[in-house]
Amino acid sequence: MEKWSTTTIADFRRTLLAWYDQAGRDLPWRHDQDPYHVWVSEIMLQQTQVNTVIPYYQRFMAAFPTVEALAQAAEPDLLKAWQGLGYYSRARNLQRAAQQLVTDYHGQWPRTAAALQDLVGIGPYTACAIASIAFKEVVPAVDGNAFRVFARLLLIDADIAQPKTRQIFFKAIQPIVDPQRPGDFNQAIMDLGSSYMTAKNPDPEHSPVRQFDASYRENRVLDFPVKTKKPRPKVVPYYGLLVQSPAGELVVQRTSQQMLTGYWTYPLVTKADLQPDQEPEPTTLAADIAALEQRWAQDYHLPVTFQPLGGQAVSQTYTHQRWQVKLLVATVPTALDLTYFPGQWVPHEQVKALPLPKVQEKMMQRWAKMRSAVNK
Ligand code: ADE
Repeated sequence: MEKWSTTTIADFRRTLLAWYDQAGRDLPWRHDQDPYHVWVSEIMLQQTQVNTVIPYYQRFMAAFPTVEALAQAAEPDLLKAWQGLGYYSRARNLQRAAQQLVTDYHGQWPRTAAALQDLVGIGPYTACAIASIAFKEVVPAVDGNAFRVFARLLLIDADIAQPKTRQIFFKAIQPIVDPQRPGDFNQAIMDLGSSYMTAKNPDPEHSPVRQFDASYRENRVLDFPVKTKKPRPKVVPYYGLLVQSPAGELVVQRTSQQMLTGYWTYPLVTKADLQPDQEPEPTTLAADIAALEQRWAQDYHLPVTFQPLGGQAVSQTYTHQRWQVKLLVATVPTALDLTYFPGQWVPHEQVKALPLPKVQEKMMQRWAKMRSAVNK
């Protein structure tokens, strides 16, 4: 690992901030240092790319312009504003933290990274980003960009997949953060990390901080950061049930026991749900459909006959799971009684207005496509 002298640190700050002043990105959350703006943008940017976030951020601020407005938002409006961004617990935590701020803090933001971490959903990275940008606390914001940039500049070879590695980077970067402009320093590192110092296609030769880049000097840029591989998401086979009645489509709201809480989907059952108390074993599509129909008749009093929709399974990847959803369709002549089934008949146009996760949007697109193919 490289150790920089005081002069090198001063040179680096000057070079980095001069570049940032001239080439830093003009992003909507950079127009002021309002902690609410910084916070919402940082939460959105945690798992989502800048270009995707921009329109979401703008709509979110139009819908919920203040912490108070967010604290009071109706849940469906909140979920709708987040629809498509993924990692939906972020939206719920955002609102809970807004309520904490209003109730427990009387609307006064805590001004240090340490104190910010008492808010729901604000971890060490987000706390440091808000504290440095909004309150000028001299702390590094150590996200994936900072890992990559400083691993290369300083040849830090600690494994960034290990939780304790954060502390190593924090200690290495903290003395380098510009004490006058900590927020700009951190955001300049983010911009370097998404331009000259990207993961896959870096351009270290033209980088404004080339002279400080030890990995470039050693011709080992792509060796950094060091990261051990995570296990691949586990494939989970599902059936997605497209049931049409004269009263509309059958939809269910996901419960607090499930992922995607509060969002609406067509009914989803795992293959494993169809063979409980058994070791999951390979089954045929026909056997699964028969088991499903029997279950619906017995448990829900719903006599429904399903057909495979055809086409490939709809696929959606989450952090630890990859859902592969085979679609089954059914048309029923009347709006069957839903006393025993936790769902609702909703006309198609109204389904579209509900908060919908990506997997539901994909199921709807596929159903529409197959219908229009049949009608042609
Ligand atoms: N990624 C995370 N935070 C960011 C920010 N403030 N600007 C640009 N990219 C980011």
